[in-house]
Amino acid sequence: MIQSFSKVNNVSGTLSLLGDKSISHRALLISSLANGKSYIKNISDSDDVKSTISCLTNLGIEIERSKNELIVFGRGYKGYHKSAGQLNAGNSGTTARLLAGVLSAQKFESVITGDPSLSSRPMKRIIEPLTQMGSKIKSSDEGRLPLQILPAENFQVINYNMPVASAQVKSAILLAGLHLEDETVVIELQQTRNHTENLLDLRVVKEDEKIISTVSKNNYPEAKEYFVPGDISSAMFFVVLALLVKNSELLIKNISLNPTRIECLNLLKRMGGNIQIEEKGVSNNEVYGDLLVKSSNLSNVRIDKQIIPLIIDEIPILAVAGIFTEGVFELRGASELRVKESDRIKAICTNLLKIGLDVEEFDDGFRISGSIKKQSEPFESFGDHRIAMAFAILSFLMNNGGKVEGFECVSVSNPNFQEQLSSITH
Ligand code: S3P
Repeated sequence: MIQSFSKVNNVSGTLSLLGDKSISHRALLISSLANGKSYIKNISDSDDVKSTISCLTNLGIEIERSKNELIVFGRGYKGYHKSAGQLNAGNSGTTARLLAGVLSAQKFESVITGDPSLSSRPMKRIIEPLTQMGSKIKSSDEGRLPLQILPAENFQVINYNMPVASAQVKSAILLAGLHLEDETVVIELQQTRNHTENLLDLRVVKEDEKIISTVSKNNYPEAKEYFVPGDISSAMFFVVLALLVKNSELLIKNISLNPTRIECLNLLKRMGGNIQIEEKGVSNNEVYGDLLVKSSNLSNVRIDKQIIPLIIDEIPILAVAGIFTEGVFELRGASELRVKESDRIKAICTNLLKIGLDVEEFDDGFRISGSIKKQSEPFESFGDHRIAMAFAILSFLMNNGGKVEGFECVSVSNPNFQEQLSSITH
């Protein structure tokens, strides 16, 4: 489906977004492991989170919707049932990788599959540590889906130094380690999002440059209530639009302000963005609050490689912001972008070349300069929700508007994107 967008004159109003996708997946998984009823308020209605719900249902977990909350009937320690069929994670890397960690500790065989995009993404990064723990995982030769996870004979703890900055890999190990009496330790050199640690209330210490998380059966969860703060990654598309359209003012309420997720806001503030952040509360160690965003003139700043894992999902929309800033926008140290829902470096560069910008592509990033010279061809989504949304925002900012092909994939993270946009654009 090709979607057209016209130039916007003003952005104003208030938005309340459904729950953060990363926190929603984890609240569901952790509730399913606990014994008894957990209540999850403001859960994401993304296709990705629906994939997690469907996998858990196939593993014998009852999940009920009641008004604006989900009730998860957790089955307790090793209480899942063997699924009758394969577990389809759809487009969701978080579902496939975190679930692989949980299933490694179970006493039955499971098979995880996914859509063509997910089936082309690397799984060796989880197969390796889980195999070190004793899990038996079979995959295609290149370490891709489907994954066949067989019951481990001797499942044991590990001390794991993370070779790649990935919250999904870290979480897969922590969720597996939750089933063992002794302590499993994960050591990161670069901070990644810490929702698993927060929701399980794990011990995390910082030593020199290392971040060390420890888990054991002592941390096994109990049934409880969750409030999932609004999705900061979804909010970022609206934040950038409000910053770049003249005379705009936008309030976004109850959004996640987890310190490992707001680096994109800090970066835009350093670029000159007028963004006021007000903390409103904390739920299960997850901070949330309101954002007030006003039109601003942005200029470029140096982006430190160390923050890349903390802004990884926001890079497509930050690149769009980069087009409208003074000077050259350069981002390096982000080769992980090549193995997301699409090759996001290629997707960003291909689309920006279509409008005549000067673009240099690197293995680990890109450099953008020049100005928009042509506006006719539709942008390509590459079937990637964040690429589709970033280029929808760019279309709103172009004098003649613009089009995005394959726009329907936005439902992977935010099925309400267009409705929310219509409510704030004038
Ligand atoms: C996520 C971690 C990140 C991120 C993804 C969600 C998570 O992936 O890009 O959208 O929920 O843990 P990696 O762990 O592959 O960096």
